[in-house]
Amino acid sequence: MNNKKIALVTGGTGGIGSAICIALADQGRQVIAGYFTPEAEAALAWQQKHRENGYDFEIIASDVSDYESSRKMLRDIENTIGPVDILVNCAGITRDKTLRRMTPEQWDSVMRTNLDSAFNVTRQVVEHMTEKGFGRIVNISSVNGQKGQFGQANYSAAKAGLHGFTKAVAQELAGKGVTVNSVSPGYVKTEMTDAIPEDVRDSIVQQVPMGRMALPDEIAFVVSFLTDDRNTYMTGANLPVNGGMYMS
Ligand code: CAA
Repeated sequence: MNNKKIALVTGGTGGIGSAICIALADQGRQVIAGYFTPEAEAALAWQQKHRENGYDFEIIASDVSDYESSRKMLRDIENTIGPVDILVNCAGITRDKTLRRMTPEQWDSVMRTNLDSAFNVTRQVVEHMTEKGFGRIVNISSVNGQKGQFGQANYSAAKAGLHGFTKAVAQELAGKGVTVNSVSPGYVKTEMTDAIPEDVRDSIVQQVPMGRMALPDEIAFVVSFLTDDRNTYMTGANLPVNGGMYMS
C-alpha cells in the first residue's frame, strides 16, 4: 500500500498518452495506462519498455467506446489498485474523409471512441471523487475541435463536443473539490499525425506560427499542470497547446 494518488490515462500507451503517463508518474502519481483490448501484445511491450526505464506503470484493457467495458475497467482497477483520483481521457482515433465520402461507420466510430468514451469512463469515477472531495479530470480535445479541419467533420465534432462536456461537468463538480478541464493540442508528432499524407502535413505545419509540430512532452506538461494538487481554482477551462495555430 502506498499513499500515492491513482491516475488513469485512457489511450495511455499512445503517443500523447505515453508522455502523459510519464509526466504524472514524475508528479508522484501511481499511473495506470488504459489500452484498447485487441492491442494487448503492444501494450505489454510498452509496459516492459517503461519498466526498464524505471516507470512501473500498470496497464488495463478496455473498449472505452462501450459503456459496460468502461464500467468493468473501473471496477477492476478499484478492486485491484484502488479508486481513481485523476482521470485523463486521452483515447482517440481519426477516420479522416471529406463529408461527401464519409461512411456512417467512420462517423460512428470516431464519435463513440472520442466523445462517448468521455461519458463512459468519467461516469464511473465521479462518485468516488466527490465523496473524497478531490478529483482531477482532463479531457484531451484538439485544435480541430476549436477551428474545424477539412476532412474531419467527425473528429472536429467529437472534439468540440468534449468542450461542452468539460464545461457542463465542471459546473456539476465545482463545489466538490473536483476540477474538470480540457487541453487542446495542435499537431503533435505521433503515429496519428504520421498517417497524414506528407504533402498535406507539410502544408498544415506551414500554418503553425512556431513552424513545427509539438512534441508529446509539451502536451503532457500542461496536463500535469492541470492535475497538480495545487491547481485548485481552474475548472471548465480549455488550454490550447498549438504553437499559435489557433489563438483563442
Ligand atoms: N482545403 C481545401 N482543399 C483541400 C484541403 C484543404 N485543407 N485538403 C485537401 N483538399 C483538397 C485536395 O487537394 C483534393 O482536391 P481535388 O479533388 O481537386 O484533387 C480534395 O480536397 C480531396 O478530396 P477527396 O474527396 O479526394 O478527399 P478524401 O475524402 O479522400 O479526404 C483527406 C482527403 C483524408 C481529408 C486528406 O486531405 C487528409 O488526410 N487531410 C488531413 C486531415 C487532417 O488534418 N487530419 C488531422 C489528423 S491528426 C489529428 O487529428 C490530431 C489533432 O488533433 C490535430
